[in-house]
Amino acid sequence: MFFIGVGISQSHLLLLRLILKNAPNDKQEKIHLDTANIMGTDDKIQKYLKNYSTPETEAMEEKREMQELKTEITKLRQSLSDIHMGAVSGGIAGHTRVKIIGICGSPHKKGSTIDYLRTAMNAAEEIENVETEIIELAGKEIKPCLGCKSDKCGGTCIISDYMQELYPKLRGCDGLILASPSYFGTFSGQLKLFIDRLRVMRHSNFELGNVVVGTIAVAGRRHGGQEITNLDLIQSMMRHNTIIVNDGTAVCQLGATGWSHTFDDPSLKTDTDNYGMETAVGIGKCVAEIAKVVKASGLQNTVYKYNQKIGKR
Ligand SMILES: Cc1cc2nc3c(=O)[nH]c(=O)nc-3n(C[C@H](O)[C@H](O)[C@H](O)COP(=O)(O)O)c2cc1C
Repeated sequence: MFFIGVGISQSHLLLLRLILKNAPNDKQEKIHLDTANIMGTDDKIQKYLKNYSTPETEAMEEKREMQELKTEITKLRQSLSDIHMGAVSGGIAGHTRVKIIGICGSPHKKGSTIDYLRTAMNAAEEIENVETEIIELAGKEIKPCLGCKSDKCGGTCIISDYMQELYPKLRGCDGLILASPSYFGTFSGQLKLFIDRLRVMRHSNFELGNVVVGTIAVAGRRHGGQEITNLDLIQSMMRHNTIIVNDGTAVCQLGATGWSHTFDDPSLKTDTDNYGMETAVGIGKCVAEIAKVVKASGLQNTVYKYNQKIGKR
């Protein structure tokens, strides 16, 4: 092991002979025979030295190598994190302005869903050059999709209601956060109407393509279907070729998961739900950060074109 990376020299041979003298008898003969051939390489020397290295020295060597490896991995992690932070704050995306829209699908203006959405949006705004806007569906008229034939759906939706105000806003956003109460383990009817009516954007060459999307679900119970509600939102929005993100590495389960305590103890406020609020912060930050990177990369309006040869959709 002493010779790693160093060519053989007289002193190495001297040392080798010294070690040979102390080697166990049964190994000495073999080593003597082989010594004549070691006019060669470091590889050979290492091979010979292995013959009489003890398990203890091997273990020590292994430990040292593991330590070196760990140090390398730590350095690598740090530089990856630096690159990421650089890209978001100071580097390629630092000066890129993004707009994040938060849609609240609760029928209650002063409900709990809005609390989590606000937390997410405030967290997003802490990142430089991030603008946010909250849109509450409560009290707004959104009519059901009429299911027009595909060739009729595209460009402008024929229904005249609140969605007509939303389409231009959505066209101008880089990130979207959808927040919903959990109703029987899925998202609210208000959000269902909203999502169905987005079809016209999908049929207009995927206007929401590469928009970064995060989700928040709030239920009356700790396990009241938050994750399924998030999944339902995620799978619907994936159909727009969006980029779905999670709440970062602090928790990272399935979107942000709020607990409004509606049934357990209505006197408790949502701000006592530290875990849920933390996931909301994560969603806000991740949507904003990734939206900046996507916009700065120029990827924003690229949509992979369907190969017409494989048949009609
Ligand atoms: C129709 C309906 C269905 C609901 N279903 C569930 C449920 O399955 N699980 C649950 O934990 N809470 C359920 N809840 C409670 C809501 O998820 C909870 O009160 C939520 O926090 C409401 O959000 P808001 O304060 O923004 O209105 C339901 C509430 C309603 C009105």
